[in-house]
Formats: sequence, C-alpha cells, structure tokens
Amino acid sequence: MHKKFPSDFLFGVATSSFQIEGAVHEHGRGESIWDRFCRQPGAISDASNGDIACDHVHRLEEDLDLIASLGVNCYRFSIAWPRVQALGHGAFNEQGLDFYQRLVDGLLKRRIKPVATLYHWDLPQALQDQGGWANRETVHRFVDYARHVQKHLGDRLHMISTHNEPWCAATLGHDVGIHAPGIKNRAIAAQVSHHLMLSHGLALQAMRADGATANLGIVLNMGPSVPATPMPDDIAAARRADALSRRWYSDPLLRGQYPQEIIEELGADAPKIEAGDMAILQTPMDHLGINYYTRHVAQASGQHWSARAHGLPVSEMEWEIYPEGLTDILCQMKADYPHLPPVFITENGGAFPDKTPAEGPVQDLDRLSYLQEHMAAVTVARERGVQVDGYMVWSLMDNFEWGFGYSKRFGIVHVDYDTLKRTPKASALWYRDFLQQWRKDGGQA
Ligand code: FCB
Repeated sequence: MHKKFPSDFLFGVATSSFQIEGAVHEHGRGESIWDRFCRQPGAISDASNGDIACDHVHRLEEDLDLIASLGVNCYRFSIAWPRVQALGHGAFNEQGLDFYQRLVDGLLKRRIKPVATLYHWDLPQALQDQGGWANRETVHRFVDYARHVQKHLGDRLHMISTHNEPWCAATLGHDVGIHAPGIKNRAIAAQVSHHLMLSHGLALQAMRADGATANLGIVLNMGPSVPATPMPDDIAAARRADALSRRWYSDPLLRGQYPQEIIEELGADAPKIEAGDMAILQTPMDHLGINYYTRHVAQASGQHWSARAHGLPVSEMEWEIYPEGLTDILCQMKADYPHLPPVFITENGGAFPDKTPAEGPVQDLDRLSYLQEHMAAVTVARERGVQVDGYMVWSLMDNFEWGFGYSKRFGIVHVDYDTLKRTPKASALWYRDFLQQWRKDGGQA
C-alpha cells in the first residue's frame, strides 16, 4: 500500500491540548470551559478531568522523541487558548506561548512538520462567563488570539487550522449539552455555529493580512449519511442528517450559503447573520481537514439505528467500522464542491477494548486493521481523483476522551494512567514499519 502514497504525502499522528496536556494551573493558564464542565456531577462518565491527563506538558521532550520514533513527518496538536491568554482577552501570557515554542522547535529539530489547531474546544471560561460563542464579541477575541499565535509561531507552523469540528462544539456543547459548556438550547447552538464559522473566516483574513506563510484552513468532522432502508422517509432523514452535520459547515465555506432547508426548519431559532457575514465565511482556504470515524445511518422514526444490532463490526464507541465511508465522503465532497481545497485526513482511528499484556506491546490488532483499511480507503479516493494530501492517526496516545473520560482508548501508544508510562501498541509498531517502507521507496521524512 505504501507505493500508492506520493513522496510528499503528510503522515502524522494527532492530539489536542485539553486531552493530553494536564498542568492546568501552570504557565498562568486560565480556566477553560472543559475544566469547569468536568466538575459538573455526571458530566464525565468516569468522573475524571484534565488536571493531569497524559501530563504532556511535563513530558514534552519524551513525547517529542516518541513522536519521532514513529517516523511520521507531521504532528497535529492544538493550542490551549487559556494557556496563551488566560482570560481570552487582554494580556497574553508569555510562559504559555513559550511551551508551544518549545513544542514547535522540538518538532522542527526532529524534522517533523507542526500542524496546529487554534481551537479544539477549550474556550477560556472568562469568555463563557460573558456568553461564550453565543456572544458575537467572542468572534473578535478569537481573531486577536489567532493573530497573536500566528505572529509568534506562524513562521514555523506548516499548517494552521482555525477550528476543530465546529459541529461538535456547537451541537454537542450547546444543543445536546454533553460537551462543555453543557447548554441545551437549539437557538443558542445555531448562533454559536455561525459565530464559530465567522471567527474562522475573519481569522483567516487577519492572519493573511499579517503575512502568514502557513497553510490555512479548518477541520470538519464528517461521514456519509445513509438511509436505514430504501423507504422515502428514511431517504429524506438521511438527506436532513447530511445537511445538519456536514453541509451546514461545508456549504457556507465552499458555496457561500447555509442549507436553506435547515434555515427553514430552524425558523425563529435560525442564527442572526449580519450583512457581509456570508462573504467572510467563504474566505478561500488552503486546506480542508476532514476527521472521519464512521458513517451515520438515518431513520425517519427517530429510533437509534445500531450497527451492533445489525451484526456489523463496531468499535468500542459503538461506531460502525466502515472504511468505504471514507472513500465515499471524499468523493462526495469532490462532487459537491468544484472549489474544494486540498484535503487532509486530520483524524481517523478507533477506540477498542485493549488488553494490556504482562509483557510486550498491547496487541491491538483491531485498531491496526482499522487503520490499514482506512488508509487503503484514502488511496481509493485518490485514485478517483480526490486530492488528499495527508493522513493523521487519532491518536498518538490514549487520552481524555471528553464525556467518556479515560474509559475509551484511541491511542496507538498505550498510556498507563498510574505511572503515565507510554508504550507503543502493535498498531504504532505497524505504522512505524509502514512509514519506513514508504520512506525507503522515496517518501520524504
Ligand atoms: C473527535 C475529536 C477528538 C477525539 C475523537 C475521538 O471528534 O476531534 O478530539 O475525541 O473525536
């Protein structure tokens, strides 16, 4: 398979700040909405939090060596806004930025391209206290923060993505309420989604005006939405699910408008859009990051469709393992948008019930084949003419999986949460060997 990837392809591993960093009181870091959310009884299934997480901040050098040992040529991480600017407005915090300087320099020293995300959900709590993303002011605070990061790190960052999965931030955080800040209000969620998108467009424009050289874009989560049966009602349900979860984000970015049917469905709950906003949302991007895990099976009855009940293979998240879906969604994006920028798979991976042996690596053969099959699915999309220029495994190591706490493990490297020891699993060793083969045949380090 390695022969099917070009020599300048980006192969990486991905993480995010809140999920691995810990050291929540260091560097003058301010409180984030996730620190606060974790303290709500019942919010996190194992009642855990991000106070220590993988202790990455204190183990930076060790983790850099670990990343390098895999032979990847890029590393996707996110910057914690409250570590760089405690309150999300006012003074920036040099010590916090210094941590990311060391991370970026450490990657470059190891010839690994830094791929940064500005917002992977850890909003400064002080901004939430003023309405958070529902408040249009937050959009401008984000632009200030983006400019600051770009000015200080931008010359060494290979890529900068503004947001990670705005659907999750808006819908899970403000409509379903199972992510921070835990709000359950459809109108707020819709307004939040618009402000996230607006902040993306404005940040891109501001960073470019400041002379940014990094490749700029956004990361969206998506997968095909398919009907549970060929019945017209289920087909309509699949179309609606696709419009809500994918096109609500990709249409404004790449076509300059929100899906009309969703605006109509939202009625009075539709977001307030000011004159000029839609043009900002359409600011040209250098990349589109796609996070893919599974497909969505839609049913008009509103019942939850279960892959397990249908005898299909699922991961520990109960997400159906469906590699063809990655090919399908990539081809769909190409078909839908003539101006689709180069695509990078910025996350793909699986949680599986790993068994830790007394000795040697975790034999996570389920994860290993998940990765193999999905990488193969990327090659099929490439053969069908979709420009996919990178693939990043979620995740480098086991970490804090949001509402599931530490109970779900996505890492290709095992983390012992008692000792914080990192041990590559069989999947990591396979990925390393694969990359070695690819490099032998000309792949670039
Ligand atoms: C994605 C998130 C990432 C991780 C994976 C499993 O939605 O971007 O942080 O939790 O899911």
